[in-house]
Amino acid sequence: KKLVLAYSGGLDTSVILHWAKKTYKCEVIAYCADIGQEEELTGLEEKAARTGASKCYVEDLRAEFVSEYVFPMLRASAVYEMRYLLGTSIARPLIAKRQVEIAQKEGADAVAHGATGKGNDQVRFELTFMALKPDLKIVAPWRTWDFKGREDLIRYAKEENIPVTASAEKPYSMDRNALHISYEGGVLEDPWHEYKEDMFILTKSADQAPDKAEILEIEFVNGNAVAVNGKKMAPFELLMHLNKVGGEHGVGRVDIVENRLVGIKSRGVYETPGGTILHIAHRDLESITLERNLQHLKDELSLKYARLVYNGQWFTPEREALQAFVDQTNRAVNGTVKVKLYKGSAQVIARKSPNSLYSAALASFEKENVYNQFDAEGFIKLFALTARNSYSDYKKLIAG
Ligand code: ARG
Ligand code: SIN
Repeated sequence: KKLVLAYSGGLDTSVILHWAKKTYKCEVIAYCADIGQEEELTGLEEKAARTGASKCYVEDLRAEFVSEYVFPMLRASAVYEMRYLLGTSIARPLIAKRQVEIAQKEGADAVAHGATGKGNDQVRFELTFMALKPDLKIVAPWRTWDFKGREDLIRYAKEENIPVTASAEKPYSMDRNALHISYEGGVLEDPWHEYKEDMFILTKSADQAPDKAEILEIEFVNGNAVAVNGKKMAPFELLMHLNKVGGEHGVGRVDIVENRLVGIKSRGVYETPGGTILHIAHRDLESITLERNLQHLKDELSLKYARLVYNGQWFTPEREALQAFVDQTNRAVNGTVKVKLYKGSAQVIARKSPNSLYSAALASFEKENVYNQFDAEGFIKLFALTARNSYSDYKKLIAG
C-alpha cells in the first residue's frame, strides 16, 4: 500500500505523514508543490525522509500555475461574491492534479491532504482527485483522527521524534502563492476585530504608500497580459512584477466575510496586488473590444465561473465549456491599458486597442452622418410599447 501526501514540511503535514504511515501501515510519499508560496524548500527532502517518507517530490509548478490557471481565470473576470479574487481556490486543482499524476506514476492507491473538515480546501482537493482518478482512496486526517488542535500535534511530534521547526505561532492562518496571501482564523474569526498592520507581507498600507502616483501601461494579447511599460514578460514574471509595484502602492487588500461551500460564513483578509491590477485592466479593455450583448452575457457567466472555481469544480465539463466561451470572446481583447496606482487604488486612466469598437464619431455630440437622431424617436416609442399599454393598469391592479 502506498500513499501520496500533499506535504509542506510544516507541523500539520509532518504529523500527518508519520500518523498515516503508522495508522495504515503503508509507504508514504511526500509531495510538495511550489506555487510561489516563498517557503524554504531546500532541505525538505531530508526532512520528509527523517519523518518517515520513502520518497519526496518537490515540483516547481509556478509557471504552470500562472499561465494555465490564474490567467484563464483572469480572462473570465472571476470574482467570488463580488470581492474575492480566488487566490487560494485556483491553486488547489493544480496541486491535486499533480498529486494524482505522481500517484499514478508511483502506483499508489491513496492520496492525502491536510485540509480540515470545515473548509473549502478539502472539497477542492477531493473533487479533483475524484474527477481525475476516481479509484484513489482519499485520506483526510483532520476529519478522522483524535487530535483537536495544535497542542495535540506538538505533543505527538515530541513523542514520536518528528522533526518540526518551532516557528512562532501566528494568531491567524495564512495561505500564500504567486497570486495572493490569505489570512483567516484565530483572532480574525471575530469580524469586528480589526487586523493589525504588521500582518501584511505583499502590500504596504495606503497611508504609507508613496505620495507620488505610478502609471503602468499593460499590454494584452487575447486577454492575457504580455508586457508592462513595454517590457515583455512571461505570465509568472509579469505577475511577480505587478505584485511588487502594486504592493508598494498598497493595492489589492480586501477584508470580507464570505460564504464557504459547506455553509459557514468565514472572515477572510486577502492581499492580491498584481491580480487586482490585472483584473481591473483586463475588464476595462473588454469594454472597448467586446460587443455590448456579448459583454453582458460574459459578465453574467463570470459569476457562475467564480462559483465553480470557489467550489473546486475546475475539472468539470461546465467549467471547461465556460472557458471555451471566455477564450473565444477574449480573442478580441487586445490592446493597452494605462493604470494609475496611488495610495491603495488602481484606476484605469486610458485604454486603446487595434480592434477597438469605440467610435468617436458615434459617441460625439457633433453632427455626423451614420446616426440619425430622428430614428431615436421611433426606437423609443416601440421600446416603450408594453409600458404604454400596461404600466398604469398594472399599478391599479396590484393596489386594488
Ligand atoms: N477562504 C479562502 C478560500 O476558501 C482562503 C482559504 C485559505 N486556506 C487555507 N488553507 N488557509 O479560498
Ligand atoms: C481549511 O479548513 O483547511 C482551510 C480553510 C478552508 O479550506 O476554507
